[in-house]
Amino acid sequence: MKTLVKQVNQTEPETAAIEQAAGIIRTGGLVAFPTETVYGLGADALMPGAAQKIYEAKGRPSDNPLIVHISDFEALTRIAAHIPPAARKLADAFWPGPLTMIFRKTPEVPYETTGGLETVAVRMPDHPVALALIRESGGYIAAPSANTSGKPSPTCAGHVISDLDGKVDMVLDGGQVGIGIESTIVDLSVEPPMILRPGFITSGMLMPVIGSVQDDPSLTSEDASVRPKAPGMKYRHYAPKADLILVEGNLVAVSQKINEFIAELGKAGKKAGVICTDESVGQYHGAVVKSIGSRKDPSSIAHNLYAVLREFDDIDVDCIFSESFSADGFGQAVMNRLYKAAGRHVVSV
Ligand code: TXA
Ligand code: MG
Repeated sequence: MKTLVKQVNQTEPETAAIEQAAGIIRTGGLVAFPTETVYGLGADALMPGAAQKIYEAKGRPSDNPLIVHISDFEALTRIAAHIPPAARKLADAFWPGPLTMIFRKTPEVPYETTGGLETVAVRMPDHPVALALIRESGGYIAAPSANTSGKPSPTCAGHVISDLDGKVDMVLDGGQVGIGIESTIVDLSVEPPMILRPGFITSGMLMPVIGSVQDDPSLTSEDASVRPKAPGMKYRHYAPKADLILVEGNLVAVSQKINEFIAELGKAGKKAGVICTDESVGQYHGAVVKSIGSRKDPSSIAHNLYAVLREFDDIDVDCIFSESFSADGFGQAVMNRLYKAAGRHVVSV
């Protein structure tokens, strides 16, 4: 299949491009599009057979459910069997935005879309291109991140094309995304509501709106056998090709340890990569060193994380060492993704 790539204005998307993309979705095809978190790979969420194409293009296990994207709150009534009062409050506070909520599904939602589950994940993205596309396509777009399964989520159209060229009908190129990390997922089918995946919307932001909220136990457990409730969280996602080792502790000791690792690898004739910050980029020697952002601006670290992991895939290094970053607030989401990229390979100093 030839993949059509169309540039679109990210604040006022061109009608012709949106209509063409919506036509593809309405006839059962696949369109990748920008959201404020990461690029999504969209298909009609309510059309039997369409979700199957998403799983095939991504090489994704079909028991891993998709998020249904809507463009107005009323659309929920067709796909959610019960809408608790907390959902209305959260939507008022955070939709459109980087928050996904889980509901009991209606029979209208095919099991293909929900990976066989009785629940459905729903989000209203805060991006003019995504909202226009959803509206024009009939109101319900199932969209996982638009990467090959196991690769970092795409934060620009180039990432999508490098993974999915020839496997999807169209890519709407709306430039770089803003946040850079996938939405927060909250399960409203349990009491108190449970965060299944941390993201830009933190528990500290949810608490004042809905009173109480709990973390999925797997998010805080050291024990790898504690199963996450979101099926997708159990896979080793976001994995770079080279081994990734996360080094935690006091920053001075971390830099020292990473320099020791670089020297050891060098003796064995191997090459190291380093992920660090603007503040420490001058500390490392004899390796390919990349700053991921500034510690003074945690959102810059989230914004660049996946692009930096992908850049290392194109560079010939044997092992990547990453500094660890603050896990406060939004930092919890960054560290959650980094731990998974490292396959929990962590060295504490
Ligand atoms: O920011 C985002 O959420 C992006 C953009 C494109 O909207 N989408 C995204 O989708 O990250 P995906 O498919 O890469 O991640 C969806 C996650 C998976 O971990 C999946 O297991 C979980 O949501 N999920 C979906 N439906 C669920 C359900 N009914 N119950 C529990 N977890 C669910
Ligand atoms: Mg994903």
